[in-house]
Amino acid sequence: NTPHSDAFVFFGATGDLAYKKIFPALQAMIRRNDFNVPIIGVARSGWTLDQLREHARNSLEQHGGVDETAFAKLAAQLQYVDGDYQDAATFEQLKLALNGATHPLHYLAIHPGMFETVVQALANSGCTQNARVIVEKPFGRDLVTAHELNRSLRSAFPEESIFRIDHYLGKEAIMNILYFRFANSFLEPIWNRNHIDSVQITLSEDFGVKERGAFYETTGCLRDVIQNHLFQIIALLAMEPPAYRGYSAVHIQKTEVFRAMCALKPDDLVRGQYIGYREEQGVAADSDVETFCALRLFIDSWRWAGVPWYLRSGKFMRESVAEVLIQLKPPPSKLFADSQPTDGRANYLRFWLSPNSAIALAARVKREGKEFVGDQHELYLGGERIIRQESETPYERLLSDAMAGNNALFAREDAVEAAWAVIDPVLSSHSPVHLYQPYSWGPKEADTLIAPNGSWHNPSPGRMGA
Ligand code: BG6
Repeated sequence: NTPHSDAFVFFGATGDLAYKKIFPALQAMIRRNDFNVPIIGVARSGWTLDQLREHARNSLEQHGGVDETAFAKLAAQLQYVDGDYQDAATFEQLKLALNGATHPLHYLAIHPGMFETVVQALANSGCTQNARVIVEKPFGRDLVTAHELNRSLRSAFPEESIFRIDHYLGKEAIMNILYFRFANSFLEPIWNRNHIDSVQITLSEDFGVKERGAFYETTGCLRDVIQNHLFQIIALLAMEPPAYRGYSAVHIQKTEVFRAMCALKPDDLVRGQYIGYREEQGVAADSDVETFCALRLFIDSWRWAGVPWYLRSGKFMRESVAEVLIQLKPPPSKLFADSQPTDGRANYLRFWLSPNSAIALAARVKREGKEFVGDQHELYLGGERIIRQESETPYERLLSDAMAGNNALFAREDAVEAAWAVIDPVLSSHSPVHLYQPYSWGPKEADTLIAPNGSWHNPSPGRMGA
């Protein structure tokens, strides 16, 4: 019986995140009749409400299209508060706009450097009472700053009212990892170091940093996607079964995974940068920020000790795909001439996460004829071989959860800090950054990293069986 939020406030209303994600999500939710509360944009751009409405329309034109009926409602629900975040008068205006709402949800779609200022001003003006807050990643830049951020948020909100968005947690294919693991019993006996040889996770994009060069210069691949998106995927794959039904049980087990991870050493990491990155707008001519990262990590638990987890992510790579490959051990004896195929991938389980979503189990099956030779087949799990379109975007799902006070799909403070503790030792290691060609699979040093366990699987987005 958690109360539903009765107003939605978003700071940074004229900014990039609002333009790309928040307005499209709001229109979609209004279309489903799932968002009937005042929507208050706050920014310091000197705009009027009409300008913000126009901006919202432009955003929708570029991101999925305008639905005139839903847009008319959105425009009517929208209000705008203009002012500096350091000025108490801005928050007095906000209070007026809230018009007695008792459980507002504040979305901080602003530069993380402003979080503390806004949170304190919200608290001083009484706008945090019974309120909720959403923050966007990055949740700090290392363990110390993450801790600082958590401290600042916690000074004004209890943990259950803080919603740290990692949009990967709202993706259908990623929610399915949790479901698939614990709605079935056949996996559990093999889901451990006795049967799993290694795990690979790839998140690659076939475009560069685009207009986000300046942001990327302060972030880099390790902070941008590995510490959050990829680590969340690992946690779901590696966690112990939750002891009871409910959010906190899942959360506890995910946090334990981060705590059991061995802190990274410089040797575990390969950093890369695409050729041309230094010419991007906002990027230093001698930048050594990584646009690619490959790493190997270990989870020192009874289930996973000794199993290497290889992660790889990069901008400007060959394809835009996200995939997990759970490589099972080969048969113990070589009964057939081809029973240990040269690529070493006799049996595996593959979670295809993006652009489509599917799960495949690979096995060898005998080819017709008198010879005992076979081929590898992927058995697709799921009625539909491929789910092409999600009915609800992660932002819609997560916003609507935050409005309802449901934090199952958000990152909790202890997990965020435990994940930083793993990465922290290599953040300032200044290991070399290897240049790679755009539209490639990254620097060859990443191949050397994985060599003890074979090679990277380079997926193709068009075909599952590739
Ligand atoms: C964001 C990163 O969090 O995730 C981006 O900042 C990255 O750099 C994006 O492109 C990837 O998300 P998706 O949903 O497109 O896979």
